[in-house]
Amino acid sequence: MKVLVTGGLGFIGSHTVVELCNEGFEVVIIDNLSNSSKEVLTRLKKIVDRDILFENIDLKEKDKVVDFFNRHKDIKGVIHFAASKAVGESVQKPLLYYENNLTTLIYILQEFSKKEKAAFIFSSSCTVYGQVDMLPITENVPLKPAESPYANTKQIGEEIIRDLCKVQENLKAISLRYFNPIGAHESSTIGELPIGMPQNLVPFITQTAIGLREQLLVFGDNYPTRDGTCIRDYIHVVDLAKAHLVALKRVLEDTQESNYEIFNLGTGTGRTVLEVISSFEKVSGKKLNYKITDRRTGDVTVTYADIEHANYVLGWKAEKSLDDAMRSAWKWEQKITSNKL
Ligand code: WQD
Repeated sequence: MKVLVTGGLGFIGSHTVVELCNEGFEVVIIDNLSNSSKEVLTRLKKIVDRDILFENIDLKEKDKVVDFFNRHKDIKGVIHFAASKAVGESVQKPLLYYENNLTTLIYILQEFSKKEKAAFIFSSSCTVYGQVDMLPITENVPLKPAESPYANTKQIGEEIIRDLCKVQENLKAISLRYFNPIGAHESSTIGELPIGMPQNLVPFITQTAIGLREQLLVFGDNYPTRDGTCIRDYIHVVDLAKAHLVALKRVLEDTQESNYEIFNLGTGTGRTVLEVISSFEKVSGKKLNYKITDRRTGDVTVTYADIEHANYVLGWKAEKSLDDAMRSAWKWEQKITSNKL
């Protein structure tokens, strides 16, 4: 069965491609290489030991999207990852984010939803919740205003899909709200490839440990948490990738409760920044050079997912531990830095 993965050369997309191939799906990747590299395709083929179709298409070019679906009439499912994802950058360049993340979604839905049966999985984010006041976060809490244009594109993206599902019964969709994806594939062949200075905690930790950065700055230790640092729900990217497979099958097999569903993807357990550092030090055997500094603007104190809905309805549960994720992230960092790929 043929499945389109947009953004399939990115961090979460590439790990999902592996899971899809392992399950026997025929995968076509669309990626414009804006935040990824063609090299990832070669590595993916190495992991799954078979060919993967790839098209370098910018999904903002509508005629190319139309042409793509005309040429691939046998596509049964779409997993839509392709998007810009830097929260800080989105504040500086809102139009870029609205254009990149929303026009592409609209064009794909316009074409794909013409099919008699269309199975669609949307890459959403826990940022849609905004500043929450109840923990753990359940899928049915009313969404607060988005804290950034990035988060807003995910809120609006979900609304677009919901509205379309109301009038098109042929379209079956699931939005997956990710918490904090970390880690890398156990082969250390694919992983996160931040361009420039990493914005996220884990790549910053591994880059500091390997000597690419001098020191990790821990943003604030005076939060009302067990050790004063912020709490997040860190989830191994391979667990996350597997959830996409489960979601896609649910949609393809028509076992949904309604034709548009939403699931949180997290572990359900919150970890502080210092706990993440300590896990890294344990699995790597290295002492990390870090220092506490001021709070980062925009950080919420605590977020973690309520995972009951994903566990019982989707039938998926994260299996890997924080230590597993940190070990794989460290192995990956060592491999990319020493250019052994
Ligand atoms: C984690 C914690 C920082 C860097 C991310 C994405 C967001 C969304 C969810 C996709 C925080 C602290 C970080 C550093 C630090 N994903 N930190 N020093 O902010 O939870 O959000 O995941 O939609 O888009 O950005 O993740 O990794 O930036 O931060 O102390 O150098 O680590 O303050 O407490 P965040 P993060």
